[in-house]
Amino acid sequence: MRAMVEAFPSLLSLTKPDPSIMTMASQAFSSGLHGICIAGMGGSAIAGQMAKALLAQKAQVPLITWRDYELPRCVTKDWAVICVSYSGNTEETLSAFETAKKVGSALFIVTTGGAILEQSKDLPVALLPKGIQPRAALPVIFSLALPIVEALIGIDSTDFSKLSVVLEGLVKRWGNEIMSPRNLAERISSLVPLFIGSGHMVPVSYRAKCQINENAKTVAFSAELPEANHNEVEASHTYKEYGIVPIFLRSTHESKKMSARFEATDAVYRQSDCAPVHVRLSGLSELEETLAIAHYLDMLSVDAADIREVDSVRVDKIAELKRRLAEGF
Ligand code: F6R
Repeated sequence: MRAMVEAFPSLLSLTKPDPSIMTMASQAFSSGLHGICIAGMGGSAIAGQMAKALLAQKAQVPLITWRDYELPRCVTKDWAVICVSYSGNTEETLSAFETAKKVGSALFIVTTGGAILEQSKDLPVALLPKGIQPRAALPVIFSLALPIVEALIGIDSTDFSKLSVVLEGLVKRWGNEIMSPRNLAERISSLVPLFIGSGHMVPVSYRAKCQINENAKTVAFSAELPEANHNEVEASHTYKEYGIVPIFLRSTHESKKMSARFEATDAVYRQSDCAPVHVRLSGLSELEETLAIAHYLDMLSVDAADIREVDSVRVDKIAELKRRLAEGF
C-alpha cells in the first residue's frame, strides 16, 4: 500500500480517456443534457465526489453522485451517467448501470473489467489498469472521470501531466510547511481522528476517514463545516473522554465567513481542552489542494497502519460481506 500511495502523483498521468470517449461526452453536452450522475461505491466513489465538489458550481445542470442501488427517478434519458467500479462487479454499481441502461441515459463506464465490462459492448469504457487496490486507484480513476465530467459540462480538460508534476513537488513540503504524515500519525496514534473539511475539502475529509478505516483498520470520523457547527459541536466536551482529535482540513480558498467558522470552532473545542490540528498547504488551486491533501492523508493512513502493525492492503471484512451477499444472506 505504501508503494501504491507513494505513486499517487505519477498515477495521475498514467492514462487518459480515449479521444472517442471525450467526443461522445462533448456531443452529449451539445445535445443539451438535463443532468449528470456519477455512480460508484467506496474507493470507486470518491473521485466522483471530488469531481462534484470541484465542478458542481460551474455546471449549468445538476451534477449528483449516487452510492446506492438503482438511480433516483430524476435521472432520465436526457442525463449522462458515469458508472465507476474498479472491479466491475460491485452490485450497487451494477444496479445503477442497469437502471441507466433501462432509462436510456448516455452511459460512460470507468472500470478494469468484470460484469460491467461484459455488459458494456458498444458503450464508451475508460479502462483502468489492473492490480491496484480500488482505493489506491483514486488518482487514475480521477484522471479518467474528471475529463469526462468536464466535457459533459462543456469546460476545458485539466492537464493531468502538469498536475502530476505539481503533486510530485509538493511532497517536499511535508515535514516543513506541514508536519510529516509519520509525525502526525505518531501524534494521533492513541486517538480517534475526526477530519473536518468545508467545500471542496468535504470529500477529502471523508476520504481520510475511509483510508484510516480501510488501511489502518481503526475507527475515524469525518464531518463538514458549516453543518458540524449545528450539531457535532455539542459533543465536543466529550472528545477528550473518547480520545477524539479534530483534524481541520483548511483551504486557502475559504471565504472569510468559513475561515471565521474554523477559528471559532477551534476556540470552542479548546475550551474543552481539545486542540484541533490544522492541515493546510498554501499557493494551490482548489483542484491541487484536493489532491495534495488527499495524498498527504493517504500517507498518514499508511503510517497509521504501520504503527498499528496491521496489513494495510487486505480488506477481509469488505470481501466477506460481498461473498455473503453473493451467496444469498
Ligand atoms: C477496496 C475499496 C472498496 C471498494 C468498494 C467497491 O480497496 O476501497 O471501498 O472500492 O468495495 O468496489 P469496486 O471499487 O470494485 O467497485
